[in-house]
This record gives sequence, structure tokens and C-alpha cells, in this order.
Amino acid sequence: AQAQSGPEAAAAPLVVAHRGASGTRPEHTFASYDHAIELGADYIEQDLQVTSDGVLVDMHDGTLNRTTRGDAANCTGAVNTKTLAQIKTCSAGSWFGAEYVNEKVPTLEELFQRYGNTVNYYIETKQPDPADHMEEKLLALLDKYNLRTASINNWQVLIQSFSADSLKTVHAMDPRLPLIFLGNPSLATIPSYADYAVGLGPSFGSSINANWVNTAHASCLDVHPYTINTVANMQAALAAGVDGMFTNFSDLLIGLLGDR
Ligand code: G3P
Ligand code: CA
Repeated sequence: AQAQSGPEAAAAPLVVAHRGASGTRPEHTFASYDHAIELGADYIEQDLQVTSDGVLVDMHDGTLNRTTRGDAANCTGAVNTKTLAQIKTCSAGSWFGAEYVNEKVPTLEELFQRYGNTVNYYIETKQPDPADHMEEKLLALLDKYNLRTASINNWQVLIQSFSADSLKTVHAMDPRLPLIFLGNPSLATIPSYADYAVGLGPSFGSSINANWVNTAHASCLDVHPYTINTVANMQAALAAGVDGMFTNFSDLLIGLLGDR
């Protein structure tokens, strides 16, 4: 296991703004991230997709169908069949509310340009195809925006994935980077994730109890379950001893945590 570090400016339990303040703003837009930061979230979360011209964009789905509106030729279908220019013709906010019509799908680079080193990022390599070189592109952007060292030292960037292969690819490129494996491994297999990760992001449910969390902690793995949107479940996760959680409602969790 790597030495435990942690975000410099944040105290556990961490509030991870899942897709931004996505309970009240259109997910993965500047409006969503701006609001999450205003609310005081410790991290803003990004899901990565790759355009046909090789640009990392911040979208959950592999298709444009759910969260973009506009010319159907540009704004429906698989993200990786569209150029960035095509995607930029679409609204990423009008599906959520007319007042967000001007929101666009942000690139990861635009997020780094907008927020720089003033926020913590929790970035997911989403269903990465090795041919897309998502991991190399991500690390190149960390370097371009001087975020690699802050990631290593202060966990300013956490890289998460359901794909162990993707995390192992990042680990091979730089074993100092803090990585989070998304999934619900059995108690017996939890320790193996410490070979390359600093934490686990399980789907929250009854199996994520104090015993599960303690087992992770015994292997120096932090636990950040997703996606917890009710006070009752937030309280259950906190009682189990988690180190943070993903939520669409950062304000709800911040209110529950009070002074940290
Ligand atoms: O990354 C944690 C959580 O967001 C995983 O689920 O589908 O919302 O990316 P998903
Ligand atoms: Ca995610």
C-alpha cells in the first residue's frame, strides 16, 4: 500500500459533489460545478468520455442522448463518433431547465482552466478503450495545469475507475498518483486493491457496514461510497466509518456534518 496522504484543505468525511451539484443543476456543467463549489464541497467529480477527435470531455453517458439537446445529427449518438466542435453545438443544460440552455459540455481542459488549483477534482476514467489513451491524455493535462504534484502530495486530484486495468495503467505511468477503485470487493479481496489504490468507492448498500470499512482501513484504503442522497443513508454511511461520500446534494451532507 502507498503511504496515506489526503487532501490538504479538507477534513474527512469528504463531501464529493457527484457530477457537481447535480441534484439541483444540470450534471457536468459549469453551473453544476460552480454551485457545488459555492456550497463548500470538498471535491467536484468528473466522468470522462473521449470525442472522435481525441478530446477528453466531461460527460457520464457514452451517448449524447440523455443530457444534450440540439441538432439531432450532432446531439444524439455516441460521444466517440462526434468531434468536439459538433458536441459544442449542443446544449448540456436545456434538458434540465430552460434557464440552463447556454451550458455546454465542458472539456476537462476547460475545467482546469476555470478552476485551476483552487478546487479538488475526483476524475473517473469511464469505460476506457485502451485505443483512446484516456489515461495518457489525463496525465498530460495534469502536467499542463501543474496538478500532478498537488495530486501526489495533497490528493488535489483523485483518479477513480471501475476498470482495474485503467487504474493499473495509471499506476504504471506514475505509482505516486492516488487512485480509487470503484466497486464492492469481497472482504477477502479488499487487501489486494492496496497494491495500486489508496481507496475504494463502493456502491452504497447494506454490505458497506463497519466491518467492511474497517477491513479496508486495515489495508490503508479509504472508503468513499456512491451515490448517497438521503440523510438516512448519509447517517448510515457515517456510522459505518466512511471517509467521505459522493452525493448529488452536497448541501445536505455539509449540513449534516456541521463544523468539521
Ligand atoms: O464515480 C462514482 C460514481 O459516480 C459511479 O457511478 O455511474 O455515477 O459514474 P456513476
Ligand atoms: Ca462517476
